[in-house]
Amino acid sequence: MQVLTEMQDGYVSGQQISDRLGVSRTAVWKHMEDLRKEGYVIEAIPRKGYQLKTRPETLSEAEIKAGLSTKSIGQTTFFKSKVTSTQTLAKKAYREGTPHGTAIVASEQTGGRGRMERPWQSPEQTSVSVSIVVKPDISIREAPQLTLVTAVAAAEALEQTTQLPVQIKWPNDIYINNRKVSGILTEMQAEADKMQMMIVGIGLNINQKQAQFPEELQEKATSLYVESEKEWPRAHILQALFISFEKWYDTWIENGFDYIRETWEKYAALYERPVKAVQGNTTVVGHMLGINREGVLQLKDQQGKVHLIYSGDLE
Ligand code: BTN
Repeated sequence: MQVLTEMQDGYVSGQQISDRLGVSRTAVWKHMEDLRKEGYVIEAIPRKGYQLKTRPETLSEAEIKAGLSTKSIGQTTFFKSKVTSTQTLAKKAYREGTPHGTAIVASEQTGGRGRMERPWQSPEQTSVSVSIVVKPDISIREAPQLTLVTAVAAAEALEQTTQLPVQIKWPNDIYINNRKVSGILTEMQAEADKMQMMIVGIGLNINQKQAQFPEELQEKATSLYVESEKEWPRAHILQALFISFEKWYDTWIENGFDYIRETWEKYAALYERPVKAVQGNTTVVGHMLGINREGVLQLKDQQGKVHLIYSGDLE
C-alpha cells in the first residue's frame, strides 16, 4: 500500500498504479471505488491522476503498514476487526512459523486478558489491541525484562506522539495523570532454559470518551482522547509503537537491560515514593529505589532493608 502513501503526497496516474500493481486500469478504477466506499476521500483529475485527500479513521492492514519504517516489527501484520484475544491468535501464528516481529492487531476483543487472569476491555472503534511475536535469544531468567522494555517503548511512543505526561507504573502499566491508558501482558514459550518465543500483548485506550468506560473503571482508566480532547488515528499510534518497540527491543538484545534502566526510571511513577508491593499473600512496604541492572524492583523498608520484588502489584 505504498501507493496510498504516494497518493497522499501528490497525484499518481492510473497508468502508474496499474503498471506498479500489474493490474488493468479498470481494476485500478474499481479499487478506488472500493476505497471510497470505505471512507477514503480520493480526488481524480483527468491527465493528472488520483490524490488521496483524507483517510477514514479505520484500522486495516494497509493503514497500519503504509510507510512503516521498521525492519521487522509489524512488517507482517494480521488485522482482524473482532477477536477473542490477539494473544491466542499470535500463539497460533507462531506455531504456523510466522516470522519474528509479526503483529496481530484487533479493533475489538471479546475475551481480552490482562495479568493475573484479569479481564482487559478492548471496545471496538476506540481501542487497539496488539500482540507481537518475538524470538529473543535469551535465558528464562531475563524474560521478565521484556515487560519493562515494552513499557519504555510504549511510554516513549505515546509521549512523543501526543506530548502528554506519560508514566510507567511497575511492572506493566502505562499511566497518564494517575489513570491507566495502556496495559502490557508478556507470555512465553521456553524449552530447557532456552527461550523459543515471547508474545508481547499491548492494549491501548485511544479514543474512548470518559463515559464509555464501565462504572468500575471510571476512576482508574483513561484514554488519549480524554487526556487531550482530541481523536487520534489508531494506525498512527500503532506505527509509533512499532518503531519505538523495535528500537528498545534491539537495544535490549544488543546491549542488555542496563542500557534501558535509566529511561525506565525517567518514566517511572512512584519513584523514590513510599509504596506497597503485594505479591500473593506477602506485602512489602517501603520506598521505591528503582530497578536493578536485571530489571528487578527494589524497595527499602523502614528498617533500611532492601527487598527485591520480582512480581506483583504496586499500590
Ligand atoms: C494488564 O493490564 O494486566 C495487561 C493488559 C494486556 C492487554 C493486551 S490487549 C492485546 C493482548 N491481548 C490480550 O488478550 N491481552 C493483551
